[in-house]
Amino acid sequence: MHRIWPPHAAGAPDDGPLDDGQLDEAALERLYTYPAPPWLVVNFVASADGAVELGGRAAALSNAPDRRVLQLGSDLADVLLVGATTAVVEEFRGVHPDAQTTQRRARHGLAPIPPTAVVTTGRSLPADAPVVTEALVPSIVLTTADAPPDKRRAWTEAGATVLVTGEHTVDLRAGVAALAARGLGRIDCEGGPRLFGALLAAGVVDELRLTVSPLLVAGAAERIAAGAGVEPATLELASVVTEADTLLVRYLLRR
Ligand SMILES: NC(=O)c1ccc[n+]([C@@H]2O[C@H](COP(=O)([O-])OP(=O)(O)OC[C@H]3O[C@@H](n4cnc5c(N)ncnc54)[C@H](OP(=O)(O)O)[C@@H]3O)[C@@H](O)[C@H]2O)c1
Repeated sequence: MHRIWPPHAAGAPDDGPLDDGQLDEAALERLYTYPAPPWLVVNFVASADGAVELGGRAAALSNAPDRRVLQLGSDLADVLLVGATTAVVEEFRGVHPDAQTTQRRARHGLAPIPPTAVVTTGRSLPADAPVVTEALVPSIVLTTADAPPDKRRAWTEAGATVLVTGEHTVDLRAGVAALAARGLGRIDCEGGPRLFGALLAAGVVDELRLTVSPLLVAGAAERIAAGAGVEPATLELASVVTEADTLLVRYLLRR
């Protein structure tokens, strides 16, 4: 991995000599460590022409460098956050940590396994979704007061923790505050576009981590954010890393 921006190593004085930008695992981890919580990061991989899926899945756009930074975001988070559609389509099953994740989380003083929080009105998240039934720690269902009571009961019986914030749609500002109040302030959102649009409209996104995959795919795929009611957000470039023709960009949202 090679850091293009910022030109100096994190922690180096501004007037220090330029380093060669090569990032070992420790330097990459420093770059992707969350600032003080609460902090909400949204991750996406897109083709160079802006497609957010290929054949209905993100996996076909992803590659080794993308998986590496996505893993870091998850390893260093208190909680993963996803929309119900992504949880189902991408077959989320909660975090099942390997030795590196376990060691990294212990080193950072984090809980051994971060739970996954799924946002839903109840329409798209069945109680037997793997994200509920296969998770090693209880997943959190962030839902609404008017979600069907039998659905809410079924999620709970299947092992999830159900949090209600909002009447007809999830109040994401309240949802993020509810996660932070449970000690889950480093929030790693892994999509999809509808949830990202709703998070932007709620004004709760702190950082975008965007992988530009070296692919042109055309077609009718959506962009990374969807939905109405979003004021244009101005971004500040935080870092650019490259490997294998791929750009891994971190932007901070200016509030
Ligand atoms: N390229 C990437 O990095 C990436 C990452 C993730 C996903 N994807 C792709 O994106 C596609 C899915 O994206 P998507 O936009 O359709 O789905 P999504 O954002 O994952 O989920 C949308 C669903 O989330 C729930 N939701 C979102 N905001 C809500 C709110 N404020 N209140 C209540 N519920 C809310 C709703 O669920 P209910 O219908 O249950 O109410 C909504 O239908 C898939 O093709 C996936 O592969 C790509």
